[in-house]
Amino acid sequence: MTLSNRDKVRNKNYTLSMKKTILSGSTVTGDLTLGNYIGAINNWKKLQEDYDCLYFLADLHALTVEQNPKILNQRTYSFLAQYLALGLDPQKNVMFVQSHIHEHTELAWILTCLTPMGYLNRMTQFKEKSEKHVKNINAGLYTYPVLMAADILLYQADVVPVGEDQRQHLELCRDIVGFFENRYGPGCFKLPEAYVGKMGARIMSLQDPEKKMSKSDDNDKNFVSIIDDAKKIEKKIKSATTDSGTEIKYDPENKAGLANLMTIYSVLSGKSTTQLEEDYVGKMYGHLKVDLADLVVETLRPVKKNYDDLMKNMDYLDQVMVDGADRAQLKAQETLKKVYEVTGLVRHPKKR
Ligand code: TYM
Repeated sequence: MTLSNRDKVRNKNYTLSMKKTILSGSTVTGDLTLGNYIGAINNWKKLQEDYDCLYFLADLHALTVEQNPKILNQRTYSFLAQYLALGLDPQKNVMFVQSHIHEHTELAWILTCLTPMGYLNRMTQFKEKSEKHVKNINAGLYTYPVLMAADILLYQADVVPVGEDQRQHLELCRDIVGFFENRYGPGCFKLPEAYVGKMGARIMSLQDPEKKMSKSDDNDKNFVSIIDDAKKIEKKIKSATTDSGTEIKYDPENKAGLANLMTIYSVLSGKSTTQLEEDYVGKMYGHLKVDLADLVVETLRPVKKNYDDLMKNMDYLDQVMVDGADRAQLKAQETLKKVYEVTGLVRHPKKR
């Protein structure tokens, strides 16, 4: 695999393109799950055809919880390989590692100085994470959404495709644009919109369908990782929690576990939940679980194969990282330069 001529791609993406800009990312923890795939990356893949897309690996965000340095380092490569294996094309998208672009942390600081603590206190993810990591409630966990706003605003993103759990952070990002413009006036940032898919925006845990499927869950029966092998996938889906009823009916309120499985089935098969109800009239939950397990295994089989091949080619992954960082930084620099100008910070005389 070779990348196209870097300059040609730059021109295409940043000089001639009239397309809207899409940006999204995932925090480098655990392995990507079916939840990440269905709620976000499946949509990223569809958007790559019609938009200028930037998809990044949020490694700085990962530091808000304790990380083993060696594992974080390896996982960043693994995540890039997972993005690629899921079908994100580095020729169509700018794919990069967050910490390679120092502008993220610089803009985050400026935005932190404008964000009232009252707004951060409301963030449900902060509350949930501080309950989970009681011994490490650090300031980074608290200001995490401001770094996220910087990620988005640096690239003048029009649209940010995310799962339901990130919607509140997107709203905060829009508020932060308001705080900035109240102080310094308009012209530095675009106001981004969240894009949350209609179906599958919140895939639930397999054992506890009241909580979201999370890649950092301590119990690995709660999620299917996109690089799990077939046996593991089958086992996890067949042992997913369902209620004691028998009728296959899409009813998230009363049959949360079954509804979650039907949602996964629906997104992966392209069939509506009503169609699934019809297909399974007179059948048991067990039938649906067996068919769903097969569907997930077949969907992820080529992903795992691609992933294994990519992980043998570190030079290629390095090349994608370098190319992505070069292209992303052009845009990030442009935005930060404007921000420095309006905030009154003196640019280094040799860098003006
Ligand atoms: P992260 O890594 O938790 O998740 C990546 C994407 O997957 C979506 N998602 C889900 N969708 C449906 N069901 C689920 N169970 C599920 N779990 C996760 C998330 O909504 C997300 O879209 N803070 C972000 C990463 C980030 C980011 C950004 C995203 C950092 N900066 C700027 C967009 C723009 C996060 O931790 O996502």
